[in-house]
Amino acid sequence: MCFCGSDFPHRRVPPEFRRGRRPFPGCRCGRMVFFADRLSGPAVNERKESYQGRRMKTVMVVFGTRPEAIKMCPLVNELKTRQGIRTVVCVSGQHRQMLDSVLEIFRVKPDYDLSVMKPEQTLFDITTGILSAFRSVLEAEKPDVVLVHGDTSTAFVSALACFYLQIPVGHVEAGLRTYNIDSPYPEEFNRQAIGIIGRYHFAPTPLAAEHLIREGKNPDTIYITGNTVIDAMRHTVKENYTHPELEWVGDRKLIFITAHRRENLGEPMHHMFRAIRRVLDEHPECRAVYPIHMNPSVRKVAEAELGGCDSIHMIEPIDVLDCHNFEARCHLCLTDSGGIQEECPAFGRPVLVMRDTTERPEGVDSGVLRLTGTHEEDIYRNFKDLLENQASYDAMAHACNPYGDGHATKRIADILETGKYDPWVAG
Ligand code: UD1
Ligand code: UDP
Repeated sequence: MCFCGSDFPHRRVPPEFRRGRRPFPGCRCGRMVFFADRLSGPAVNERKESYQGRRMKTVMVVFGTRPEAIKMCPLVNELKTRQGIRTVVCVSGQHRQMLDSVLEIFRVKPDYDLSVMKPEQTLFDITTGILSAFRSVLEAEKPDVVLVHGDTSTAFVSALACFYLQIPVGHVEAGLRTYNIDSPYPEEFNRQAIGIIGRYHFAPTPLAAEHLIREGKNPDTIYITGNTVIDAMRHTVKENYTHPELEWVGDRKLIFITAHRRENLGEPMHHMFRAIRRVLDEHPECRAVYPIHMNPSVRKVAEAELGGCDSIHMIEPIDVLDCHNFEARCHLCLTDSGGIQEECPAFGRPVLVMRDTTERPEGVDSGVLRLTGTHEEDIYRNFKDLLENQASYDAMAHACNPYGDGHATKRIADILETGKYDPWVAG
C-alpha cells in the first residue's frame, strides 16, 4: 500500500523515493508526499538507539490542524531536548496553509507529511485518507508511544490506527467533555473515542481528570498537566507589538471575531454574523477584525452577511503570533473556537462563546466566558450588554488562568522520559 493512501502496490518505500516532497512514481493520485531525511538510508543507520546504556524511547507526535499544531509544537520542542527520547513528528496535513504557518513559527520540521487535505473535504475523506497513509508510517517507525491531541479527525484516526497495530497512545488534552455527541460535532465523539484507546491521559485540568475517573479509566494513567496552549503563549505574546490592523482600529474598541465549527455551518452561522453586524452598526466606537477560516463554507456565509460593513475587516487567517497579540489587545472576543476560550481568559478579555455547549466550562465558571448559543437575538443581546453595561463588562474582564501554568509540556515530557509526575495544581 502506498504512503499516499492509494493502492499503489508496495509496502516498503524504495530508498530513492524517501527524501523530499514528490509524488510517488506510478501512483495514480499524484499527491505530493513528504519524506524527511529520517527515513533515508544514512539517517536510519546513524540514528541513536540508546542513551547511557538505556534504549531510547521513540515518541511519535501526530497532528494535522492549526489548533493541534499550536498545542503540540511546544511539546515537540520540549521532547527534542530530552536525551532519552527520539522524537518523530508526523503531520497529516488535514490543514495545509494554516498548519504550515504554525510549523514555521515554532520551527518544527515534520519527519512525515501525509498531505491529505482536499478543498471542502468531508469527514470520510479525512478519515480514510489518514487511516491508510498513517499505517505505513507506523509500520516503518514502530514507535513506543504515539501522542495525539484533542478531538480532531487527525487525532481520532491516528489513535485508531495505533489501536489496530497495538501501539500505545498518549492523549494530550484528554478528558474535556460536553457529553453531547452532536456538539461539538464530530469532536465530542472523537475525544471520547480516543479516551477509550488512550494508554496515557494528559488531562489539562482537574475537571477533565475527574471526567476520566468517572468514566472508569485507571487513575494511574491520568496526569493533570495544564494545557500546552499556555506554554505556547509564553513564546508568542509581545509587549511592543504592532500590526496594520491594530493601527486601523486605533483608539476604538477592537472586537475580535473567529468562527468555523461544523455544527454552526449554515443557519447558525448566518444568525451569528447578522447579530454581530447589527451591533456594530449601532456602535461606531467599535472596529472588528475577523480573520476568516479557510473553509469555503464559512467564507460564503461571512461574505453574504458581513460584506460591505465598514467597521469590520475580514482578513486572511493570521499567524498564531498575531492571533495571541490581537487577543491580548481586544476589548472582547466573539468566537466558536475551542482554543480561544483557553487563551483569552489569560488576558482578561471577555469572550462571548457562540455555541450551545462548551467542553471548557472552567472559563465560564471563572466568569471570563459567556455561552450565548447561536440564535441571533441571544448573541445580539449579549454583545450589546457588554458594550453598554460597564458592570457586566467589568464582571467578565479579569485575568485568570484556569487552563494551566505554562509548564504542561515539561510535565508530559517528564512522565514519558522518566515517569516523574509533578501535577499541575489549579488556582
Ligand atoms: C478542523 C477540525 C476541528 C478544529 C478545526 C480548527 C475535524 C473534524 N475538525 O475543522 O475540530 O476545530 O479544524 O480549525 O477534525 N482549509 C484550507 N486550508 C487550510 C485549512 C482548511 O483550505 O489550511 C479548508 C479546506 O477547504 C478544507 C476546509 O477548510 O476542506 C475544512 O477543513 P477541515 O479540517 O475539514 O475542517 P475544519 O472546519 O477546519
Ligand atoms: N488562530 C490563529 N489564527 C487565526 C485564528 C485562530 O492562529 O486567524 C489560533 C488561535 O489563537 C488558537 C487556535 O488558532 O490558538 C484556535 O484554532 P481554531 O479556532 O481553528 O480551532 P479550535 O481551537 O476551535 O479547535
